[in-house]
Amino acid sequence: MPIILWCSMLTRWDEWYSNENLRKDQRILVAPPSRSAEMAAGEFLRRGKRRILDLACGVGRDTFHLEKRGLSVIGADAALNGARAAVKTRLVLEADSHFLVADARHLPFGNGWFEGIYCFGLLHEFTSQHKDEDLRDVISEASRVLSDQGILVLTVLAGDPQAGLPAVQLFTRPMFEHLLAGWHPLEMQQFDDIGCTSRADYSIWYGLFEK
Ligand SMILES: C[S@@+](CC[C@H](N)C(=O)[O-])C[C@H]1O[C@@H](n2cnc3c(N)ncnc32)[C@H](O)[C@@H]1O
Repeated sequence: MPIILWCSMLTRWDEWYSNENLRKDQRILVAPPSRSAEMAAGEFLRRGKRRILDLACGVGRDTFHLEKRGLSVIGADAALNGARAAVKTRLVLEADSHFLVADARHLPFGNGWFEGIYCFGLLHEFTSQHKDEDLRDVISEASRVLSDQGILVLTVLAGDPQAGLPAVQLFTRPMFEHLLAGWHPLEMQQFDDIGCTSRADYSIWYGLFEK
């Protein structure tokens, strides 16, 4: 059974994933998986990490790709409408992934539940005056729900930190590295990837870290 847990958050992403907008912009549901998800799948499999959390999974384009590659995946996102759309797609695809609504800063999972976490495009979402605390909470929760030697694959929009505000907080490499201080970095690179808005011109930081 797919899981949806409801909580009272309503985000700008709920509007983006609303039925009305999904009808208007049909690209959202058919966006191809990201290159990052394919790279992450290879790393998880190579390292024997099979129980994976797709953190901020949106409508699940990468969740379903990770599952297709042989991983057991739970997708979590703060937007209820995103999770609803993902569950509908799950039925169409006859997929096994589960979805739930959750805030990445307070995850409803026990310690060490996952062997791997994949998180595409969440970190740049935090732009409020509390953003440093928000980011610290996300990384601390990721560490808590990850098993020992667990693998975290993170991507974030790269660029001039002032350029994307107030919508998004672009990251420089030192910002990315500073946030993950204390983790063991295995790989870090910058490349173009297809964002959840189907834009092909986003440059991202892709990082692979071991707990
Ligand atoms: C850029 S989209 C990426 C979606 C998905 N990873 C993809 O690539 O298709 C950012 C996602 O972060 C989610 N999000 C924003 N704040 C969140 C939070 N505090 N906790 C969990 N998800 C959050 C949004 O609902 C949205 O789905």
